[in-house]
Amino acid sequence: MKALFDGKIAVITGAANGIGNAVAQYLAARGATIVGVDLSDAVLQVGETLEGDGHHGIVADLTDASAAERVIAEAVDKVGTPHILVNSAGIALLDPALDVTVERWQKTLDVNLSGTFFMAKAAGAVMTKAGYGRIINLASQASVIGLDQHVAYCASKAAVVGLTRVLAMEWARAGVTVNAVSPTVVETALGKAAWAGEKGEKAKREIPVGRFAQPEEVAAMIAYLASDDAAMVTGSNMLLDGGYTMI
Ligand SMILES: NC(=O)c1ccc[n+]([C@@H]2O[C@H](COP(=O)([O-])OP(=O)(O)OC[C@H]3O[C@@H](n4cnc5c(N)ncnc54)[C@H](O)[C@@H]3O)[C@@H](O)[C@H]2O)c1
Repeated sequence: MKALFDGKIAVITGAANGIGNAVAQYLAARGATIVGVDLSDAVLQVGETLEGDGHHGIVADLTDASAAERVIAEAVDKVGTPHILVNSAGIALLDPALDVTVERWQKTLDVNLSGTFFMAKAAGAVMTKAGYGRIINLASQASVIGLDQHVAYCASKAAVVGLTRVLAMEWARAGVTVNAVSPTVVETALGKAAWAGEKGEKAKREIPVGRFAQPEEVAAMIAYLASDDAAMVTGSNMLLDGGYTMI
């Protein structure tokens, strides 16, 4: 039987860890060929941990605005024109607003916002030409609510939702959908560091389902948005928050 992502090429940023890695595992297990992108050179070995052959790793610092063009050109050259882009590279630098330095503010925007946009722009150029594409941007529940000490993070994630809507509108007639996914805390390195100890236990009690999310649960939502079946879903910000933001 044909697997859901047979013949599909998926570029995934942040693929060395956390949600990006879980998405790579999830899509590869269903037939996709993965181009993993990360700051960490662990991404060069990521193919060895995935089902199937032909996966490719690229080391890139996505705060360098010119990196995205190079990444997409290498993906096209080594694997083929991507059908799917998942922007999962991201950082969470937490400070009270009065203590945020210019450097930490700028770094957050460079990775979470500019990195996401320039990857989407470079992928969108080849996808709109091909007449097919699925772009999924990791935002966060921080895109729709305020969180203590998350001023740069919340601003960057709300902006990711804003750019998602514009790209969705501009590329809809070209067969390219663009959506954001907004999880509550996910139990990855980033999530555990930001929500350790009593702060995390309190947050879990405030989530209606009573727990944080697992990376595989986020991967399953992303896989739906990345599938042919999701052709009518574009410009959305899909929450995966155990009910937290409905309160
Ligand atoms: N974990 C959570 O609680 C949570 C919740 C909501 C949204 N998110 C978002 O999901 C995404 C993934 O988070 P995660 O928990 O998997 O994080 P993670 O720290 O486990 O993985 C992030 C990956 O991004 C890579 N990366 C960081 N800066 C980079 C750069 N400049 N260039 C290239 N790669 C870079 C890191 O090397 C790492 O492999 C992020 O955008 C994050 O904001 C996470």
